Amino acid sequence: MKKSDIVKLLIKDRLPGTSGKAFAPTNIALCKYWGKRNSELNLPVTSSLSISLADKGCSAEITIIDQDPDCYFLNDQAIDMSAAFSTRLKNFLDLFRSDKTHFRVDIFANIPIGAGLASSACGFATIVLALNELFAWKLSKHELSILARLGSGSAARSIWHGFVEWQSGERSDGMDSHGVLIQQQWPELCVGLHYLNKQEKKLSSRIAMQRTIETSRLYSAWPNQVQQDLLYIKEAIKTRDFDMLGKTAENNAMAMHATMASAWPPIVYSLEETLSAMQKIWKLREEGLSVYFTQDAGPNLKLLFLKKDLAEVQVHFPSLEIIHPFAEGHYA
Ligand code: PMV
Repeated sequence: MKKSDIVKLLIKDRLPGTSGKAFAPTNIALCKYWGKRNSELNLPVTSSLSISLADKGCSAEITIIDQDPDCYFLNDQAIDMSAAFSTRLKNFLDLFRSDKTHFRVDIFANIPIGAGLASSACGFATIVLALNELFAWKLSKHELSILARLGSGSAARSIWHGFVEWQSGERSDGMDSHGVLIQQQWPELCVGLHYLNKQEKKLSSRIAMQRTIETSRLYSAWPNQVQQDLLYIKEAIKTRDFDMLGKTAENNAMAMHATMASAWPPIVYSLEETLSAMQKIWKLREEGLSVYFTQDAGPNLKLLFLKKDLAEVQVHFPSLEIIHPFAEGHYA
């Protein structure tokens, strides 16, 4: 099955306006997605669960234009149409246009691009939301999540604020593989972005995942761990057990990176600074501070802690960017 078949299944009506505008938050997985069972449709081996980062993310405005070809802008700068990102975006937009339609796409991102801050997740989610406005598709959030997943797997979760589970689904067409909002909120929960290097990563998560599946002997243990971690994290959210949440999320990230380290050639996204920050966090925990971290396909860490510990965490990490995922207006 091809991406275009899924688009045909989902989009019945279109009523083109002239432009569509939307925002999608970036999301950080507490239980990671690592590995695809179908790489054309971005269907995951396991389910995953994330927290969206409030107003951190991407907004996009898509306008139908007369001129050929498309033109794309990121934070008001024209993107070179031969850049890998432009090709990826153009291929994605091809799924939704007739031959004669051309687009101008303006993306505004308030997070670094390609540095493990899920820029592709909020990028593709906002494109789908903006297209939904532009063409008045009136799709449900679950359907929009399926379309966003076709652009980038983790984009399936960026359709919502708050906690979101991306259910792996079982169907080969992936129509049951989409995000589902977890209704619980946790206003005390804070995420701290600890930037160690904002440069674009050299190895994409797509390639890294595939290499891990093909060569890591540890990967066979991963789906079982995810199954258990998802249960713990959902229970922790329900009972507001922060230490259970932090411990499970940190261990899940470490296990994901262990599968990568045991791939061949090895994949290591951490820098020396990443390891020192981890050691600092472990020491702070030994001293009684409830702070945990998670890490994605990049060297930066995302710290997890509660509001009551914010001042103390900031003493140790003064340049931390603090996110309140459940601040007024940032859920559902
Ligand atoms: O959706 P992708 O291809 O950007 O992969 C995301 C991979 C991780 O960020 C490492 C994990 C996750 O679940 O977001």
